[in-house]
Amino acid sequence: MEYTYTVTCFEAGQTLVSFKQPPASLENPALTETKSSWHQFLTDFFADGSLPPSALQAIFEPMRTPTVDSMMVVGQLGQTMDGRIATVTGQSKYINGQSGLTHLHQLRALLDTVVVGVGTALADDPLLNVRLVSGKHPARVVIDPKGKLSPTARVWTADGARRLWIVSEGIEVSAPEGVEVVALPALGGRIEPRDILSSLAGKGLKRILLEGGAETVSRFLQAGCLDRLHLIVAPILMGSGRASLNLPAIEHMDQALRLQVHTHQLGNEVLFDCDLSPQRVKIA
Ligand SMILES: NC(=O)c1ccc[n+]([C@@H]2O[C@H](COP(=O)([O-])OP(=O)(O)OC[C@H]3O[C@@H](n4cnc5c(N)ncnc54)[C@H](OP(=O)(O)O)[C@@H]3O)[C@@H](O)[C@H]2O)c1
Repeated sequence: MEYTYTVTCFEAGQTLVSFKQPPASLENPALTETKSSWHQFLTDFFADGSLPPSALQAIFEPMRTPTVDSMMVVGQLGQTMDGRIATVTGQSKYINGQSGLTHLHQLRALLDTVVVGVGTALADDPLLNVRLVSGKHPARVVIDPKGKLSPTARVWTADGARRLWIVSEGIEVSAPEGVEVVALPALGGRIEPRDILSSLAGKGLKRILLEGGAETVSRFLQAGCLDRLHLIVAPILMGSGRASLNLPAIEHMDQALRLQVHTHQLGNEVLFDCDLSPQRVKIA
């Protein structure tokens, strides 16, 4: 017999993932409220053998419970050792190898919404769904203030996931059926990241993966709108290309952002899990 088995894990009523068949160790979803069963959940869910269970727990535990408000916003960028996320022509497939990509899909499966800037949607025409691990497709959101993206972009593919097109107020787009258009106020073409998150929270989307690109992650970071930043550093030197972050220039080292960081080995890549919660503004 085939049936759907839903695990609510983060907050009451919030679906983490649905299985066609329940894994044997998850007979009682309520048990996922405890640390040991969360550990067991991760072990079973991501049992591809690439990481030991203790490593999975160490990576994903910090994003399990929001600390500032009811939202959890995680930025991610895959970069070279010299801090590049794409070549000068904008090509980024693939800076990360299998381990880094698996990690990205694990993030998509564990958070409920993936957000990208229109630069990424235009350059990569990404699907933004979950393919390399088990899990539910997240809602997909593109920040596109001027409405530049095509209605035929792959991110709008109707596959059961929610799809949201964020534009500036007054911009008209021909949204495909089922795509929600969200118009937000913009100043000088910029929408406040806080307004974006608050709008998503109002639609029940509170677990956000900000998947790039550089400009989008930089704006959220600068606005204090990230709880965590996952930088996945690949053993590559590019020596040119697009920088992973673009923040206002500083003159003195004491103005630089110094972070609480945990590092994790992902195959031959290193995940820097940066805790930005001390500077995160309250949203919802
Ligand atoms: N290695 C990786 O992990 C990774 C991940 C993602 C992307 N990439 C690469 O990164 C490149 C794209 O990055 P990118 O920095 O050029 O572009 P991006 O961050 O994807 O998109 C930036 C654009 O999105 C819109 N936007 C984002 N936040 C906004 C806000 N708060 N208010 C208003 N508009 C906002 C603006 O559109 P307008 O320009 O219309 O104002 C902005 O110029 C591509 O080459 C892609 O392949 C790499």
